[in-house]
Amino acid sequence: MADDLASPEILKLNRQYGAFGRIAFREGPGGFTIAVLANQRGSCEICLHGGQVLSYRPIGHAAVIWRSAHAVYEPGKAIRGGIPVCWPWFGPHPERKDLPAHGFARTMDWKIAGTEYSNEKSELRLVLRDTPETLAVWPHRFELELHVILGDNLRVRLTAKNTGDDDFTFTEALHGYYMVRQIADVCVMGLEGAKFTDSLVPGSAPQTEENPIVFRAETDRIYSDDGEVVISDPGIGRELVLSKSGSGSTVVWNPWIAKSQRMSDFGDDEYLRMLCVEQANIGDAAVTLAPGKSHTLSLSINVDLK
Ligand code: BG6
Repeated sequence: MADDLASPEILKLNRQYGAFGRIAFREGPGGFTIAVLANQRGSCEICLHGGQVLSYRPIGHAAVIWRSAHAVYEPGKAIRGGIPVCWPWFGPHPERKDLPAHGFARTMDWKIAGTEYSNEKSELRLVLRDTPETLAVWPHRFELELHVILGDNLRVRLTAKNTGDDDFTFTEALHGYYMVRQIADVCVMGLEGAKFTDSLVPGSAPQTEENPIVFRAETDRIYSDDGEVVISDPGIGRELVLSKSGSGSTVVWNPWIAKSQRMSDFGDDEYLRMLCVEQANIGDAAVTLAPGKSHTLSLSINVDLK
């Protein structure tokens, strides 16, 4: 898996953390370092920029994770697609419009904390800690760990630890972009009965979801829900089962036509092939951590053929 002509930095990472056929590092678009996990059941790529899962493909299945053909790979910019880490705030900053949406974790360079493998699993741990730049916009000391476990399924665990002396509160999401054959044929199940707020109508009263969700227009909703969600995709002939823990919110987003056209890193027709279902903690589910305490948000992605 490793590139024969890799840079000295990539070769060093492979010597220190690689395992033949299981864990390798390579240079990706924009010069970003990509970790590649593999085992008998599938493969997955994670970018150190953003601590972002970029792809997951169980052997014998179509790709699970979507990424834009127009994604931008530049320092300080978010990659459109994969599973961005939104932290320590979800959406626009609550007070400061000048700060980037969805926090700073998705545009920072994460460090490798370790790798492990066995017959069943290949694992990667990345870590992000406060820097003078993060303290300038969010004055709290923290450690974030992203633990990616490729086994029979893909598991992503995001652990936030308060390494400072005062409590802090954050909102967050594992902002997964999933590949679908044709959005109009897709349905999202598991949120029936859940309360949601419609982000397209700011300040609107919460509503109750009556039915499985289908997509006929721009959709951007924050559900209060801590359960499993299934993306049913008859076009591909599969169900993506998204299980989670440590999460009280689920976001469902598809930009549809006009918003796709407004986003420079998103193709005009790409909304047809993707859907975001995000395991999150937003609003009443925001997390407060006392010094020394930690919180884990975790996601498991399973693929069922139908
Ligand atoms: C979703 C939000 O989580 O992320 C949407 O609910 C937003 O409102 C989308 O448009 C993409 O955000 P960004 O910052 O990556 O363009």
